[in-house]
Amino acid sequence: MTKKFNRTLVTSALPYANGPVHIGHLAGVYVPADIYVRYLRLKGEDVIHIGGSDEHGVPITIRAKKEGVTPQDIVDKYHSLIKKSFEEFGITFDIYSRTSSEIHKKTASDFFLDLYNKGEFEEQTSEQYYDEEAQMFLADRYIMGECPHCGNPNAYGDQCESCGTSLNPTDLKNPRSTISGATPIMKETKHWYLPLDKHEGWLRQWILEDHKEWKTNVYGQCKSWLDMGLHPRAVSRDLDWGVPVPLPEAKGKVLYVWFDAPIGYISNTKELLPDTWEKWWKSEDTKLVHFIGKDNIVFHCIVFPAMLKAEGSFIIPENVPANEFLNLEGDKISTSRNWAVWLHEYLVDFPGQQDVLRYVLTANAPETKDNDFTWRDFQARNNNELVAILGNFINRALVLTQKYFDNKVPQIHELTDYDKETLKEFTDVKAVVESYLDAYRFRDALKEAMNLARIGNKYLADTEPWKVAKTDMPRVETILNIALQITANLAIAFEPFLPFSAAKIRTFVNMDNLSWNQLGRVDLLPVGHQLNSSELLFAKIEDETIEKQVQKLLDTKKANEASVEIKVAPQKPNVTFDDFAKLDLRVGKVLECTKVPKADKLLQFLIDDGMGKRTIISGIAAWYKPEDLVGKQVCFIANLEPRKLRGIESQGMILSVEDTEGNLSLIQPSKEVEPGCQIG
Ligand code: MF3
Ligand code: ZN
Repeated sequence: MTKKFNRTLVTSALPYANGPVHIGHLAGVYVPADIYVRYLRLKGEDVIHIGGSDEHGVPITIRAKKEGVTPQDIVDKYHSLIKKSFEEFGITFDIYSRTSSEIHKKTASDFFLDLYNKGEFEEQTSEQYYDEEAQMFLADRYIMGECPHCGNPNAYGDQCESCGTSLNPTDLKNPRSTISGATPIMKETKHWYLPLDKHEGWLRQWILEDHKEWKTNVYGQCKSWLDMGLHPRAVSRDLDWGVPVPLPEAKGKVLYVWFDAPIGYISNTKELLPDTWEKWWKSEDTKLVHFIGKDNIVFHCIVFPAMLKAEGSFIIPENVPANEFLNLEGDKISTSRNWAVWLHEYLVDFPGQQDVLRYVLTANAPETKDNDFTWRDFQARNNNELVAILGNFINRALVLTQKYFDNKVPQIHELTDYDKETLKEFTDVKAVVESYLDAYRFRDALKEAMNLARIGNKYLADTEPWKVAKTDMPRVETILNIALQITANLAIAFEPFLPFSAAKIRTFVNMDNLSWNQLGRVDLLPVGHQLNSSELLFAKIEDETIEKQVQKLLDTKKANEASVEIKVAPQKPNVTFDDFAKLDLRVGKVLECTKVPKADKLLQFLIDDGMGKRTIISGIAAWYKPEDLVGKQVCFIANLEPRKLRGIESQGMILSVEDTEGNLSLIQPSKEVEPGCQIG
């Protein structure tokens, strides 16, 4: 059963705006998506490509906290950087927007309400870790403790980075809040769940029976999820960053990032086409295709479709051609370990060479299994394929035409058998490339396009027009006419893959209209047609250049090894002297110190502050015995807004330093001073 579609809605995963984009993003999602939409546009089809930044979720709040800025600052910075990188690499979105936009917040909020009103959610109360000092529920990443498997004292609530085990926060021994250091307590919280179990029936039919043509890696992952059985999934979180849950009883709760982000595809379509967006999302003759990486499969093949079905008026995807992962020189790409080739850095080192990277990432795309990017392979593919075949062929055809025919397309005379064979070989190319592109097999499609260049290159090498020119000019005319027709074909065939080079070729041969349907024709350039001057399309990449890149990675590796133990926070943005002067920092003397009942992290101090006495609560009980502190000098912030902790008003804050293991140590003047003396 093949459906008839009249338009294609292509979405690319919305990258998290908490870091720049790297080659793994390009290879996994954005280059294949861009190839696909360029191909459809070239065919004259009705297609839009929707993208944007995913600006919610816990990692963004953590990054903000570490850098001492707001989450909005983080997403503003990376949204612009990511958007620019995509533009520079020729990834053509019809819109690249963001999930912190008002239209998105409203769309996601309304979507939730709609499902809520339809009774599509279940409410469940569960116990979750709560930080009483910070008065907030703790996301998994905000809890640290001892790993039950390897004993690492700094494992996170969702994963131990030492042994790689995924964890639940309740697995940790001696859990502590990374916000305040306090021991979290269990507290009840209510959330809304999407009962995926109720959707299992139609999901099984839709994926396992009706979409057997999906890529095997995608189909296989879906099947194993479905076979394990689906369970209700919470669509809300206790967090202060995200789209608020639009219910009066849901104070302090936001939509789970994986609930709001895919709705971003809808919001961004609305933003692009305020009047006609529904045609793209609600008509059966729209083909919806999601380009994503493999870690997103369950959300796009199971969760989001279930949300759309629950709403009732939306279509669900026709295909989800997810890629596997790209590794870098044998290691998993990692933002935190800086193990990546960042797009903005690539462009500094390889200016104007976007197509080289697009080429290598497509030729070596992780379409069915994880793949490895190496700089040696990058060099080899550039030098042996782009330079030696594609570039060499086109350059020869154009330079010879310039030399012998004043840059005008010469005429064809009698064709030899070899000419006919050559022409015949590339007339089939359109059908072949098309069948691969339609099946999301971009590597194979590129290989076929490259074959076309190979045919041309071989044709010139075999016919040697530069030699024939001494004896038989009519023959040279024929040969170059054929070579130029192949060149024009290459401008079309490579447009989806290497858009910058294809545009150059088009300029060289002076072709103004461009359509996929012309591909395979041998009369694209009429006799006498005037060509423009040309230049080399690709340049050889020297060993030195590659060695520099390899060295850069080796340096990263060394730095990582050296810094495994040193985990200091990055420096916060500058403040003015006036900002600093607002703080009233002083030295005080501890008169009394006692434990705060039922709060094992807290000590209550009575301080002689030189002006009188004040009470300060501090979370350092784990590291000091109260009796040892009496009589000691401490540093404190005198003018910090008083705050109630456990019913006791804390009139300031005692200064301490946290070491890389998370232990606190009090700060003291190195010589005794009078209580009340100011620090500065
Ligand atoms: N931000 C997610 C990631 O990088 C992808 C979100 S895709 C969307 O893994 F569907 F949620 F938008
Ligand atoms: Zn561990």
